[in-house]
Amino acid sequence: MRVLVTGGSGYIGSVAIERLLAAGHDVVALDSLVRGHAAAVSAEVPLIQCDLRDPDATRAAVIESGADAIMHFAALHLVPESVINPGAYYQTNVAGGINLLCAAAEGGIKRFVFSSTAAVYGEPKFLPVNENDPKEPINPYGHSKWMVEQFFPAFEREHGLNWAAFRYFNVAGATEVHGEDHDPETHVIPVALQVLQGKREAFTVFGTDYPTPDGTCIRDYVHVIDLADAHITALEKLGERSLGPINLGTRDGFSVKEIVDAVERVTGQTLNVKYGERRPGDPPALIADTSKAQELIDWNPVHSTMDQMIGSAWAWMQAHPNGYDD
Ligand SMILES: NC(=O)c1ccc[n+]([C@@H]2O[C@H](COP(=O)([O-])OP(=O)(O)OC[C@H]3O[C@@H](n4cnc5c(N)ncnc54)[C@H](O)[C@@H]3O)[C@@H](O)[C@H]2O)c1
Repeated sequence: MRVLVTGGSGYIGSVAIERLLAAGHDVVALDSLVRGHAAAVSAEVPLIQCDLRDPDATRAAVIESGADAIMHFAALHLVPESVINPGAYYQTNVAGGINLLCAAAEGGIKRFVFSSTAAVYGEPKFLPVNENDPKEPINPYGHSKWMVEQFFPAFEREHGLNWAAFRYFNVAGATEVHGEDHDPETHVIPVALQVLQGKREAFTVFGTDYPTPDGTCIRDYVHVIDLADAHITALEKLGERSLGPINLGTRDGFSVKEIVDAVERVTGQTLNVKYGERRPGDPPALIADTSKAQELIDWNPVHSTMDQMIGSAWAWMQAHPNGYDD
């Protein structure tokens, strides 16, 4: 299959491209490079520089790609930034998403995999969170992803576009070639590892009085390789029918304190830890019900132990101390 990967120069998109190539697919990357890195796209993959907010450029890019399928990773995804600048999030994630969907429909593309997020659930009342639970996003980022999810059924009905919307929980880890190089970095594991690299003074645990066993927030982490492979499996299944929204996590929760312990164990170093106040909008725990992923795409994450996620991220960061600028 020939797959157009939007956000192909970002963290997850670059790993998806690596895994697609390994599985024998042709790939074309699309990215505006507003946040990604051209160096994250291997030389054999054509990179179309395109801003999805521009409908004409998006249509031209989809036609130029000659793709049979789209994996749509391109987005802005910093929750606090989305609160301060909601317009930018709706323009990129919602307008960009609809531009891409229209271009896909015009181009006769029938398979579409969308990066959604656990943020569509807001602060869930029950755990683990099931796909049918209420979607009550509490910030413009989560809301923008939930809006895009709701466009798909109409495109399916009218244009025969089969779709999957993967709601990722916390993505972590790296391959030997591709890793996480966000600026600013906000994800727990790379932030902790940046302290060990000397790029940050301390790792702050936000909130120690949550109703969890050790008082710190619990999250469900999934290795980026397992996540990318779910997208590739979905591409095949979309030849038959839509899969709809699917959680991607492991149904296993780790507290922030447990992450600190694991980082120290895996790296053999001691982390300088500080304790701060709770951050508004951080639910005490988020854990995915993954039964739908098991049922529909035979989801069986094999890389997603905490030690593998931290170990691979640490190996990549040590090999690329300045990220893709090396
Ligand atoms: N990383 C996580 O833990 C996580 C969790 C849940 C959901 N997601 C979703 O996964 C996707 C990928 O996340 P990531 O961590 O790889 O992010 P990333 O920032 O590394 O990659 C996103 C890419 O999108 C590109 N982009 C942004 N705006 C664009 C535009 N208008 N036109 C074209 N390209 C544009 C950026 O340049 C960047 O390369 C996002 O949609 C994100 O919302 C990520």
